[in-house]
Amino acid sequence: MHVVPGLDVLSLGIPVVPVSTRIENGTADLAPISSARWLGQYAVLGLGDAARTTADLPRERECVLSLPTPEPADAVDRLALTTGRPDVPRRRAKQGHRYEPEKCAAAHLTEQPSELVRAPRVAECPVPPECRVVAAHRLGGPGAHATAFQAEAPRTHVEEGLVTPGTHHVDPDGWDPLIMKFCEFHGGGHRLRPSRPADGRNTPHQRPGGERTARTGTA
Ligand SMILES: Cc1cc2nc3c(=O)[nH]c(=O)nc-3n(C[C@H](O)[C@H](O)[C@H](O)COP(=O)(O)O)c2cc1C
Repeated sequence: MHVVPGLDVLSLGIPVVPVSTRIENGTADLAPISSARWLGQYAVLGLGDAARTTADLPRERECVLSLPTPEPADAVDRLALTTGRPDVPRRRAKQGHRYEPEKCAAAHLTEQPSELVRAPRVAECPVPPECRVVAAHRLGGPGAHATAFQAEAPRTHVEEGLVTPGTHHVDPDGWDPLIMKFCEFHGGGHRLRPSRPADGRNTPHQRPGGERTARTGTA
């Protein structure tokens, strides 16, 4: 039987992807997102207008999507309340966001030069596809202040031990992506830690005893 619980969040379990872009002064920005989907060699990335990355991608037309395992979850979370925008939007500042010009260093992650694009890879992330942005679509509708970017991945690096020997495939048993479920990080089927932007939201982990309540309604 289906119910209509009036879900606050539809992030029911999707990989987290730190997106690196080169910025005008030659340094790099790094923005974790969870709105990334793959279609063959293409990715579709959903980015809100408040992010610096949303402004930089149409100009740079390049990025790296450094797919992490659960190990760097703490590092990814260190990026959660940071932005590469010196003009931190007021609403974000009130939520605790701060300007951070050196995202990788702030997260304790290591930049590694890419081969085809100027944006760096993240060395701690075992699958970092180098991407070119080929299209951008404004998302319409009330309350939608976001862009869907289409990126193609002409070169995807994979940590050697994750390639199934003799194939062009990632070993599905060895590959354990860092997952965002609701507002929490998960890996290996387990809850790892809450994400900092979850603070102040009515997310399951914040309820006493981890209680999962549902607002039910009828279809
Ligand atoms: C786990 C996680 C997932 C996120 N997912 C998205 C997302 O899908 N789209 C988005 O626009 N922002 C997302 N964010 C927020 C961005 O990381 C945030 O806007 C950040 O300030 C962007 O950095 P920038 O302003 O330097 O580009 C997410 C943050 C975290 C921690």
